Order: sequence, then structure tokens, then C-alpha cells
Amino acid sequence: MSTKVWSIDSIDSQQLNTALLAEPAQLLQQGRTIALPTETVYGLGADARNAEAVAAIFQAKGRPSDNPLIVHIADTQQLQSLVEPLSPLAVTLMDHFWPGPLTIVLPARPGAVAPQVTAGLSTVAVRMPQHPVALALIRAANCPVAAPSANRSGRPSPTTAAHVLEDLDGRIDGVVDGGACGIGVESTVVELVDGVVHILRPGGVTTEQLLEVVDEVIVADELVTLNNAPRSPGMKYTHYAPQGSMQLVQGAAEAVATFIQQCYVEAHAQGKKAAMLVFAEHAHLYRDYANDVHIIGRLDQLATATHHLYAALRTFDEQGVQLIWAETCPLEGLGHALMNRLRKAAGGNFMQV
Ligand code: TXA
Ligand code: MG
Repeated sequence: MSTKVWSIDSIDSQQLNTALLAEPAQLLQQGRTIALPTETVYGLGADARNAEAVAAIFQAKGRPSDNPLIVHIADTQQLQSLVEPLSPLAVTLMDHFWPGPLTIVLPARPGAVAPQVTAGLSTVAVRMPQHPVALALIRAANCPVAAPSANRSGRPSPTTAAHVLEDLDGRIDGVVDGGACGIGVESTVVELVDGVVHILRPGGVTTEQLLEVVDEVIVADELVTLNNAPRSPGMKYTHYAPQGSMQLVQGAAEAVATFIQQCYVEAHAQGKKAAMLVFAEHAHLYRDYANDVHIIGRLDQLATATHHLYAALRTFDEQGVQLIWAETCPLEGLGHALMNRLRKAAGGNFMQV
């Protein structure tokens, strides 16, 4: 299979050249797999109603079939065919956060999407992305678009079209290149239980933002199951793992820097390729080994860190880094999403100094 690339300048959504999207939109209608930019990460899209097209997504990614997909829509009219009548809470969330990085798990209309999209659950996860190219493509294809992140299963999510091609060139029908994704980590996935918002996966919409709109938000413990079923099946898989092994180190900045550099020096002495992932505010503490220090972003502006995270993990792989030590950040705002991804990348390997 050859993978076609369409480049589209999405800087000015008013002047989006939608003619360029006619071909990928038509391919989506024909049941092909097309990667597309969203404001979070690139997704690998296919017509959510077409079982063969959806199967091709799982095939291309090597994704376990019990991990359901998010369905992307361009306007709320598309919702009617997908889900049961909406609760007032669902409507409130949609009014405030759509289009945007919030995925809402809703009771599915039986038969509305191919069975593999929901992995046999009675619910379907839906989101309306905020990216002008994604919205225009979904509109042009005129179908609900099932789209997981466009990476090989277990690899960091792609935030550029080049990342998508690294993982999936020759395995999918095309990529719409709309430049780098702004947010850089995936959407927040919520489930609504008895009128309360439960966060199944922290992401681009923060708990604080949700609390401006609703009274209560519960952050689901990833290990707790509801009615003995995993609440977000994706949670049980190792995700976002770099090839090297990674450890998170938490504590006062100076103590963390001392510990990390001791580890680094030891690894180096053993001939291992090692790297450090640190925040800009602390970079001066690591200046002796600056060549192997990767600045993830600013602590006082965590959006810069989420934006760079996955690209950094991919760079470590490219450079053949075997050992990585990373600083941590407070669990505030985007810090929840960032730490969630770092913890997964580290496979839970965590050190307090
Ligand atoms: O930002 C995003 O959400 C990106 C872009 C492409 O939109 N998509 C994305 O998809 O991250 P994926 O497949 O990598 O993650 C989907 C997550 C998984 O953790 C999955 O288990 C969960 O959503 N999910 C999907 N359907 C669900 C459902 N019915 N109930 C609970 N969790 C569900
Ligand atoms: Mg993913």
C-alpha cells in the first residue's frame, strides 16, 4: 500500500484550501484509512460505520481489538445517529468544551457504529476536535470518523505528519499534513455517572476548567473498575513507551538534579547512552552535561511541555538512548495529563529523593 500525503496550511482557518481535502474525504467515504491533524495529536481516521474500514485501523496500528476508538464529529447534528438522547450534563459539557480536547463517553445507539469501534461496550466515546483541518475533512467526508492516535500501538502518539509516516508509512492510505499539533497530548476522556463527571484519562481539558462549569469532578483511579469492567479499556495497556527505560525522579529541584546526574554519570561510565528530560527553569542545574539534557518545556507554562513531550520521546528512540531520567511537575492544570503520560512512558518507574 502506498501512503499519499496532502499538505495543507492550517494557520489561517478562514483561508483553508478545502479543495485539497476533496481527495482524502472521498477516500474516507470509500472506507480507506486517512491520518489527520487534530489540536491534540494526529488521529488515524476511518468511517466509523464501516466495519472493514475500522478493522483496517486496528490492523495498521497493531492495536488490541478490545481497546475502543473515539468517534470524531464536525457538528452536533452528527450526534443524533450515534448516541441516545443527551443528558443535561452532557449538553453543558458540549456547549463549553466543543469543539475542543474533551471526549465524552455516551450511551451508544445500537448499530450506529461498527462493533469494533466500541469494542463491544454499550457506550461510544465522542469528540468534536478544534482543528480547522479535522473539522473540514470530517465535514467533507460527511461521516463520523473513528480515529485513535496515528501511532503504532505502544509508540508515542504522533504530533507531526512526519511522526505518522515514521510509524505507518505503507500501512495506511494517506496523511493530511496540517503542521504540528498545538496541545501535543490527547483529549481528556470523561464518563458521566449519576450526573457527575468522572475523568477516565486526563488530557487537554484540565480538571480546573471542568470545575468552572460543573460542581464535582472525580478523577477515576486507573486501577478501579466499575461493574468489574475496565472503565477505559485503553488504561490497561502500556502506552507511549520509549525504547529506552525511563525513571521519573521527584523531589526538590537541586536534589533531583544531583540524583539524576549521578545516575547519568554511572550509566555513562558503563558505556550506556543516557539522557535527561528536564524543565527549562532547572536547566542551569544540569549545565555540566548539557549535551544529553533535553528541555521538555517550562514549568510555569506547562502547555510548552505537553507540546514537546512526544517529539522528545521519539528523539530518544532515534538517538538510541538506553536510559532516561525525567523530572516531574506538580499535579495542577495540564500537569495531570503530562504526569499521566510520563508515568506510562516510565512504566511506573518512580523515585522520590
Ligand atoms: O486526543 C485524542 O483523543 C486523540 C485524537 C486523535 O482525537 N485520540 C486518541 O485516541 O487519543 P486513542 O484511541 O489513542 O485513545 C482513546 C481512549 C482509549 O483510552 C480508550 O480506551 C478510550 O479512549 N475509550 C474509547 N471508547 C471508550 C468507551 N466507550 N468507554 C471508555 N473509554 C473509551
Ligand atoms: Mg493512543
